[in-house]
Amino acid sequence: MHRGLLFDLDGVLVDTAKYHYLAWSKIAQELGLPFTLQDNERLKGVSRERSFEILLELGGRKMEAGKRAEYCARKNEYYLSCIRQMTRREILPGVCDFLQQARKKDYRIALGSASRNSRLILERLELLELFDAIVDGTAVHSAKPDPEVFLQGAKALGLAPGECIVFEDARAGIEAAHAGGMPAVGIGDKKDLPEADLCLPGLQGADLSEIERRLAEKRE
Ligand code: G6P
Ligand code: MG
Repeated sequence: MHRGLLFDLDGVLVDTAKYHYLAWSKIAQELGLPFTLQDNERLKGVSRERSFEILLELGGRKMEAGKRAEYCARKNEYYLSCIRQMTRREILPGVCDFLQQARKKDYRIALGSASRNSRLILERLELLELFDAIVDGTAVHSAKPDPEVFLQGAKALGLAPGECIVFEDARAGIEAAHAGGMPAVGIGDKKDLPEADLCLPGLQGADLSEIERRLAEKRE
């Protein structure tokens, strides 16, 4: 039995990828860079700054650091104008029930996300009070696959890493969990997340006893 659950935000609790895509598309358009929905897949779980570098690479362009920071700030303004309009309807199916189930079973709950907008998003979705700790892009120095965000999450919950389960939709996040000594439940398709200890299509209908049982089986 584990005692804590660590959740990634984008793609696990809420589908913000579409807003990141909209915001990056505007920047790409302004700079005349090619950028498709398929390219957007490469930005999932990747920091804002690294995302912009990838965007520039796609168009074979280079830019000095000061200017890059200006574009990243502008992208965030576009992104913020989308997420300020978000409502609870955008919480992914099954998330609220799953978080309630975890609370009833006395699991401690933390967020472990690269996004510096995490708190605002959880506030908009009225999910903030379900979390015992928030560790986000404002608190960490090294991005996933570095385990820092999850190690800090476990620490904030007062638990050892091995007492926590990570829920992640990005391969880099699964790697981060494992690097920190935590099992990882992949949210998505097993073929996209081959390293995950087990995969679920989403949190809808997910059952913590069943997850614990499957993780225990895997350990044996
Ligand atoms: C998550 C998303 C990425 C995003 C990153 C930083 O990992 O999957 O697409 O770039 O957070 O988000 P931020 O809101 O700080 O720009
Ligand atoms: Mg994610």
